Amino acid sequence: MKKYGIESLSFYTSRYYLDLIELAVARGIDPDKYTTGLGQHLMAVVPPDEDVVTLAANSAKSALAGIDPNEISMMLVATESGIDQSKALGIWVHNLLGLSPQCRVVELKQACYAGCAGLQLGLSYISQNPHKKVLVIATDIARYGLHTPGEPTQGCGAASFVLSANPKLVTFEPEQGIFTSHVMDFWRPNYSDTAFVDGKFSTKIYLEALEQCWKSYQEQSGRKFEDHYRFCYHLPFIRMAQKAHERLARLNGKETTPDAVENSFIYSRQLGNSYTASLFIGLASLLENTQEDLSQKRVGFFSYGSGCVAEFFSGIIQPGYKEHLKTDYHRAMLESRTRTGMADYESFFTHKLPQDGSHYVISPYNTGLYRLSGIKNHERLYETKP
Ligand code: CAA
Repeated sequence: MKKYGIESLSFYTSRYYLDLIELAVARGIDPDKYTTGLGQHLMAVVPPDEDVVTLAANSAKSALAGIDPNEISMMLVATESGIDQSKALGIWVHNLLGLSPQCRVVELKQACYAGCAGLQLGLSYISQNPHKKVLVIATDIARYGLHTPGEPTQGCGAASFVLSANPKLVTFEPEQGIFTSHVMDFWRPNYSDTAFVDGKFSTKIYLEALEQCWKSYQEQSGRKFEDHYRFCYHLPFIRMAQKAHERLARLNGKETTPDAVENSFIYSRQLGNSYTASLFIGLASLLENTQEDLSQKRVGFFSYGSGCVAEFFSGIIQPGYKEHLKTDYHRAMLESRTRTGMADYESFFTHKLPQDGSHYVISPYNTGLYRLSGIKNHERLYETKP
């Protein structure tokens, strides 16, 4: 039987971070609440010359290394922090990466779930067009606002993966347990830069959606909890995924072991919530931080997007996957970031581009290959660093 799945996977996050202990002290909160209660340690913060386009392009550049860009015939970009009501942000990325004019580009939205939608739509397309490749990018900047309860659960990141009939990392199984329900747990009206969130309610709905998705997935697949060797969950903050895993184990009358999930948390603990990208950064973290050979092992995935749409599905890790990981690149990127203090964090957070059409040049901060250089006549300007 023909196999389809992920050929290449990479992620990118901003070059600056805030230590959550510093944030806790500044806000007069016990640091244990953030580090133990939420399970987060560091939070990626974006400088003025980084946005969802630069995050996306930098992650895709790495995912495409060794792949002929002309082979990409579709690019699906998932985001809930888009920059335009009309134009897909993927077109800026397409331009920066020099992809083929014959590549179809579209943006997907359903909160943090849209990356999973990109994966499933891309797999359907590849199954009909096995000689083609699809680039899926999930890119987001999580913003709740200064002095809000959601503040320690902000962050940013983009994950890019190439889907093809040559899946060197993971193939996916056909059963998909889906749950959609109209709930107002988290949303962001067009006029707001920050999310509106009913935080406690959102954590409750996340767990309810997991149960519904699991039941549907189990009915379709007949698989048991213990048929899954590892699990990757959507990661708004690490403790949420730990609770989800405990809930799923309890539902199935099983004990949890940290091994089943811990390695998928390592990267997100250092960059915070990356909304659509977090599930795939979790997958990279699992594959790159597990010493043992995971070849032929089944991983259960849970994607949750507030509002809400959620899905449980599964994949099989492919033999030889270790040779195709970008572990050194990812670790070096995380280790070489600059620590910001509260003043820079707050000034980055409150930085705004002019909205009157004036020409505004952004001075360079530390970024990857691509940066936002300014805005003119309402048009964002990007540049590729030499
Ligand atoms: N030491 C150790 N732990 C402590 C502590 C201390 N001193 N003080 C508090 N805690 C624990 C609390 O007991 C709690 O743990 P439990 O839930 O296990 O009891 C945890 O720290 C958090 O404390 P609170 O619930 O009191 O925190 P809060 O109400 O101030 O905010 C939050 C928590 C609701 C998650 C808030 O950060 C938030 O709104 N975040 C954004 C929403 C979010 O991430 N929702 C997740 C589901 S929705 C989703 O997944 C989509 C998405 O990406 C947004």
